[in-house]
This record gives sequence, C-alpha cells and structure tokens, in this order.
Amino acid sequence: MSVSVSHLPSSLVLLGAGKMGGAMLEGWLAQGMPPAGVTILDPRPSEDMERLCRDRGIALNPAAPRPPEVLVLAVKPQLLDDAAKDLNRLVGPQTLIVSILAGKTIGDLRKRLPAAHAVVRAMPNLPASIGRGATGAAASDDVSEAQRLVADNLLKSVGVVEWLPSEDLIDAVTALSGSGPAYVFHLVECLAEAGIAAGLPADLAQRLARATVTGAGELLFQSELSPETLRQNVTSPGGTTAAGLQVLMADPGGLKALMKSTVAAAKTRAEELAG
Ligand SMILES: NC(=O)c1ccc[n+]([C@@H]2O[C@H](COP(=O)([O-])OP(=O)(O)OC[C@H]3O[C@@H](n4cnc5c(N)ncnc54)[C@H](OP(=O)(O)O)[C@@H]3O)[C@@H](O)[C@H]2O)c1
Repeated sequence: MSVSVSHLPSSLVLLGAGKMGGAMLEGWLAQGMPPAGVTILDPRPSEDMERLCRDRGIALNPAAPRPPEVLVLAVKPQLLDDAAKDLNRLVGPQTLIVSILAGKTIGDLRKRLPAAHAVVRAMPNLPASIGRGATGAAASDDVSEAQRLVADNLLKSVGVVEWLPSEDLIDAVTALSGSGPAYVFHLVECLAEAGIAAGLPADLAQRLARATVTGAGELLFQSELSPETLRQNVTSPGGTTAAGLQVLMADPGGLKALMKSTVAAAKTRAEELAG
C-alpha cells in the first residue's frame, strides 16, 4: 500500500509495541517514515523490538518524551486506565490521537485524556501484521483535513482503510472485518472436516482446505471481478459446484443466515465491551 511520505508525521509516539503496534511500526518505516521522529513507549518490549529500535535509531522509553504530532495508542484496552495516568503530558494542543483500542470510544478516550483534542478511532484486523489489513476509521469533529490525511497514511501502511461517516459504525466494523479473519480460519477448519467426512486423509484435507481458501482469497485480491461474478464463473449449471452451493446457499438454512447471526452476535458483544 503506497503512501505519501509528506503526509507522514514528523514526530510520533507509539504506546504499546506489541503485535499490532509492531506491525504498524514496520509499515511506517517501510513507507519511509524517518525513524528519528518515532518514540516507542512500552515497559516490556520484545528483544526484536529492542534490536529494531537500536538498529534504526528509534527512541525507546525515553525519560521525558515531548508531545508529538501523533500519539498512537496500541495497548490492550484493559490497560488504558493504567497507561493514561502518564499520557496526558504527551497530549499537546496540536497532537492527533490515533487509537486502535477495541471497544474504547472517542468519549472513553476523552474521559481518560482530558487534554485530548483531535482523535481518530480505528479498528484494524489481524492481516495488518502482513500489510494486508482492513481498517475502519472514524474521526472526531475537531480532526482537521491535514490530520485525517496523516492518519489515513499511517493506517494505510498496513492495508486498506475505510473512513466511516460516524463512529457508531465501528461496532459493526469490529464484527465484520475485526473478527472476520477468525471466521475465515474456521471456514478452513470446517472445509477440512467436511473433506475428511468425504473420505480424504486428515492431513491431505487440511492442506487442501488451507490452499483453497488462501488461493481463493488471493484471486479475489488480484481480480477486479465481484465475488458474485467469480462464484458464477466457476459454477457450471448442473455441475458439482452447483450441487454444493445449493446446500450452502439454501434459504433458509444456508450460510447467509448463519453469517448474519454471527456478525450480529459479535456486534452485540462489541457494544457490551464499550466503556
Ligand atoms: N491483534 C489484533 O488483531 C487487533 C485487531 C484490532 C485491534 N487491536 C487492538 O490493538 C491493541 C493492541 O493489541 P495487540 O494484539 O497488539 O496486543 P499486544 O500484542 O499485547 O500489544 C500491546 C503491547 O503494549 C504493551 N504495554 C502494556 N502496558 C503498557 C503500558 N502501560 N504502556 C505502554 N505499553 C504497554 C504490552 O506489553 P506486555 O505484553 O508486556 O503487556 C504489549 O507489548 C488492542 O487494544 C487491541 O484491541 C488488535
């Protein structure tokens, strides 16, 4: 995902350099963000993170960091209260806060960080760790166009970004793309089990199911055709795929209804976790 270096911030503090924070950091560096402008705050960084900071000249846990242009929050949501105590001094009048904390609303963040002005709340997903994430993002009213562009570039460095007209939609985004990779992993499990039930040895069924889902995903990624057209293109009338899809697409009782209740349950849980 190519981003414009001129729209990356000149100073950035990353709070929490774990899986997601670390993936974003790698994306920013790969896009040409000057390492000298980055500061990492993480009380227990991994050895890899320590080495990266040493090799690239990134400040790691300096004694008194100054308020940056962008403060990225990437700790576990339950650690926000703990971390917030020391954070207010990092929020200047021009600081844009970008939070990827699941379930924490812009209002929740303002409560913990009274100095906060501009806030972007984003929900990435696991494939961000390989630069192929899908992120939904919402901005508070006081985020300027320039700040939105900066946030867009930061988030784009780990995949696609969809800007939401309202923060209310984040719970639905969480339920679809945030939790979605796990649904797809489960699809692979189910496909493999079905293959075993159809007579294949277990390891062969698992290898085929995995390769089928990753191959179909890559095809979808590379193709400009809709998923519907791609499906129709491999479905000959009266053929084997048509016979399988007749079951999968049954109405009622097919995948559509199951997926609807899956996403609805995840959305309800996302709503419950806010606060
Ligand atoms: N992973 C995902 O797929 C995903 C998707 C969407 C959103 N998110 C959100 O991304 C955030 C981070 O998730 P993650 O999976 O990257 O978690 P993670 O791997 O546990 O990373 C969090 C990092 O923050 C560190 N940390 C703990 N307390 C801190 C403090 N007071 N100050 C600074 N750093 C501190 C942790 O250190 P220790 O390990 O030593 O505690 C860890 O290195 C979460 O809020 C999550 O909701 C994650």
